[in-house]
Amino acid sequence: MSKKLYIETVGCQMNMLDSELVVADLRRQGYELVDAPGPADLVLFNTCSVRAHAEEKIYSALGRLKNAKKQSPNKIIGVIGCMAQNHQQAVFKRAPYVDLVVGPGQLHQIPQLVEKIGAGAGQQLEVSLDRKGGARGDVERSFESYDPLRDEAMRPSRYQAFVRIMIGCDKFCTYCIVPKVRGPEQSRSPQQIISEVRKLADEGCREITLLGQTVNSYKYAEGERTTRLSDLMLQLHDVSGIDRIKFVTSFPKDMTQDLLEAVRDLPKCSHYLHVPAQSGSNEQLKRMKRLYTVEEYREMHQRIKATIPDSAVTSDFIVGFCGETEEDFAKTMALVEECRFKNSYIFKYSPREGTKADELWTDDVPDEVKRRRNNELLAVQNRISYEDNQPFIGRQVTILVEGLSDHARKHEEHSHGDDEPHAPHGDGVDHMHGQVQLVGRTNCDRIVVFNGNPRQIGQMLPVTVYDANSFTLFGEAVTSHVGPEVYTLGVGS
Ligand code: 5AD
Ligand code: SF4
Repeated sequence: MSKKLYIETVGCQMNMLDSELVVADLRRQGYELVDAPGPADLVLFNTCSVRAHAEEKIYSALGRLKNAKKQSPNKIIGVIGCMAQNHQQAVFKRAPYVDLVVGPGQLHQIPQLVEKIGAGAGQQLEVSLDRKGGARGDVERSFESYDPLRDEAMRPSRYQAFVRIMIGCDKFCTYCIVPKVRGPEQSRSPQQIISEVRKLADEGCREITLLGQTVNSYKYAEGERTTRLSDLMLQLHDVSGIDRIKFVTSFPKDMTQDLLEAVRDLPKCSHYLHVPAQSGSNEQLKRMKRLYTVEEYREMHQRIKATIPDSAVTSDFIVGFCGETEEDFAKTMALVEECRFKNSYIFKYSPREGTKADELWTDDVPDEVKRRRNNELLAVQNRISYEDNQPFIGRQVTILVEGLSDHARKHEEHSHGDDEPHAPHGDGVDHMHGQVQLVGRTNCDRIVVFNGNPRQIGQMLPVTVYDANSFTLFGEAVTSHVGPEVYTLGVGS
């Protein structure tokens, strides 16, 4: 009988990719995925350390498993990813019934460690060296990029995939734990990346998202030749079957003109750039050690818009960072007004032990002030998102259809094992015509919801937009007169 694996993932896309790969690895060991921890023989938490809240939630989830472990001592419980690297032995101290702690640079060891624990070897800990735990080369080698064989069945979507092009971060923004827990910046070789993308394309994948903490800092040197992200994109553009290429997250200072021109000139490149500003105040940017001024960010933003006029730029902001005054915050509000981001992810500052900011300054902005600033910034951003979505009404856009909308998916889950007749309207599924509510994204990453046929999932499809709010465009599939080839409309080869 196969063993059962339950995995819970929090955090960024890098974690989502890591989980996909860990599951693929464990499936080869005979594990089958289940959707609750109760029946699982192995329970894994793939964790995030960017904010304290994410770590606390994991400890709560572990707390809820304490009794289950008492009742089934053979159940293996593991903490993997950033919090494992951050807390190391302390995870065992706080939750002594945890069996396994594995950092993001050691994920390849999981199958063998699980086997060891199963054989009675007791608690296992595998983490990478601290950033100052050895010479640069030794620390680099202790953070191994985790790129085992991919398993088509384990991808969240058949038509989309994340592809890691680099690991780690060398920027050391003063608030950020990532350089500590994910180690030194290291780029993967173009050959490895290209062969991974070719394999994905052979399996039917149509969209790839290249991942890196500072993805546009990608640089791979081989003898005389250095490959930059723009060069890599050019090579990936030749992979037939792939229709769309995105990359996240970009660092403002590394947004070079060659890259912007590659995005403009390569038809498969999504016109979507996630380039976090973090703050609109020079004093704060300096404290954050972001390595640019507001003027430089603004100049970069103008350059993006001048080079790729229809591009959508998104940002991250931290509110309530140490010493942030009302004046500083007003400057952040002004930057959002000026840049009119497609959307912004806004976070309340959360001090992280082991960062420069935590060492040097007190977390002096009260939580209610952080909350108010968060809400105010979000309100401005939502208004801008709403306004900038309105001109799409009446326009035709080409979307990659990703799958059922949240609404339709919930309905599907709800209807499993349910013999009751379904309401004909308002449930996301039109039973008369076999239509379901589908969701896709435009070339500039805007979400479009429309009624269509599940067969359209994975296709590039023209849709006419008839309504829009801050987050979503509502569309109607363009059909008839153009002929069936319109459904397979692709870009490039
Ligand atoms: N507190 C709050 N937000 C943070 N981020 C990174 N570190 C912290 C922190 N200590 C945010 C940044 C980053 C995003 C992924 O998380 O905005 O871009
Ligand atoms: Fe953290 Fe800054 Fe690196 Fe982004 S660039 S991961 S915010 S240290």
